[in-house]
Amino acid sequence: MIIAVDGPAASGKGTLTRRLAEHFGLARLDTGLLYRAVGFRIIEEGDDPEETAIAVAAAERLQASDLNNPALRGEAAASAASVVAAIPEVRATLRAFQQNFAANPPGGAPGAVLDGRDIGTVICPGADIKLFLTASPEVRAERRVKELQAKGLEAIYTRILRDLQDRDARDASRAVSPLEPAKDALVIDTSEKDADTVFETALAHITSQNN
Ligand code: DC
Repeated sequence: MIIAVDGPAASGKGTLTRRLAEHFGLARLDTGLLYRAVGFRIIEEGDDPEETAIAVAAAERLQASDLNNPALRGEAAASAASVVAAIPEVRATLRAFQQNFAANPPGGAPGAVLDGRDIGTVICPGADIKLFLTASPEVRAERRVKELQAKGLEAIYTRILRDLQDRDARDASRAVSPLEPAKDALVIDTSEKDADTVFETALAHITSQNN
């Protein structure tokens, strides 16, 4: 079973995919981490993430173990990620990694759940289940603030809201694989829903699709 979950930053993809992976015993891949790892390596080395050749070389060097770096969760990595994610050659390089994960889920899992921006449209267009999560920018910024504060990090709402909106604009307007729901995705607006309700909505959809 392959489940594709797409949507903008802080729409609830991480929480939902962790729960789906646990419920069905699936392997989980947060594909944003791939772009974050590529972007982070470039800024760490003092290079410019807008330089195609540099970004492609960083994508080609990516290894699964790079995804465990806690610094990838930070806003600097997020911002560099959305820059490299707009480069078609970077996306093509990372596509193989993601499709290989879906085709051969690690640990002998019976399938995989992938979260990202173009899983249902480009990476796994034949996925059994496609979900697209959305939420208002204000709700997503509030969630991000709470997440960062829970980790003891400083978080300024207005700055986070502006960064999210900048990132949304870049993700939605890029020429390759822009952020958009697949035609056969169930769209769930999580603005007014808690994590349990989102999970139950997803489960009800999966059950109805499998019957
Ligand atoms: O989901 P995230 O915040 O970790 O994603 C970081 C950036 O990577 C985001 O701005 C968009 C990009 N991304 C993408 O273009 N395609 C994906 N499948 C996942 C993330």
